[in-house]
Amino acid sequence: MDQYRVGVIVASLRKDSLNAKLADALQRLAPEALLFERIGIDDLPLYNQDEDAAPAQAVQRLKSQITSSQALLFATPEYNRSIPGVLKNALDHASRPYGKNVWAGKPAGIVGISVGAVGTAAAQQHLRTILAYLDVPTFGQPEVYLQATEGFFDGDGGFGRDGTRKFLQGWMTRYVAWIKQQAG
Ligand code: FNR
Repeated sequence: MDQYRVGVIVASLRKDSLNAKLADALQRLAPEALLFERIGIDDLPLYNQDEDAAPAQAVQRLKSQITSSQALLFATPEYNRSIPGVLKNALDHASRPYGKNVWAGKPAGIVGISVGAVGTAAAQQHLRTILAYLDVPTFGQPEVYLQATEGFFDGDGGFGRDGTRKFLQGWMTRYVAWIKQQAG
């Protein structure tokens, strides 16, 4: 396979989301072999099992975007030491109805940035636990726990510091190699 479609899920609905900026800046470090497509989660209704048989259009769109992705990239904030509810809602939607979990087998990278010093570590651990249950293989090392400090992003949508850019370039190189290995 020459190109891999990567579905990008940003777990913040905020207009100026740091995690959205992180996902965008990371994509700039990727080789042409990766084709990124944002998977929106802001229009999903709250998950209700009664609607499994007739899911809303936004849910069908979510599932079809996941199905057509060869890999996933989650960029998540940490809310009260876990993942934001909007992400859990999306994870639940695409895991159902029972036996029709479209997340299964999609290799996923996880990154996150927060204003706190733990840099979304607690949220990412929760996300890894959920993804393991959903049969989603997750990229292991290096882990990406980032703290938003002055000058983290430059004015052009890139990373402000050489050290950060180098670290994330290294992450991207390994992530791509891993996706190729997983996707075959
Ligand atoms: C936060 N924030 C936060 N930060 C952190 O490091 N650990 C935490 O547990 C929390 N908890 C938390 C709960 C709620 C409800 C909000 C709104 C915020 C702060 C968080 O890191 C900050 O708002 C980020 O800017 C959120 O990411 P986005 O929206 O910029 O991508």
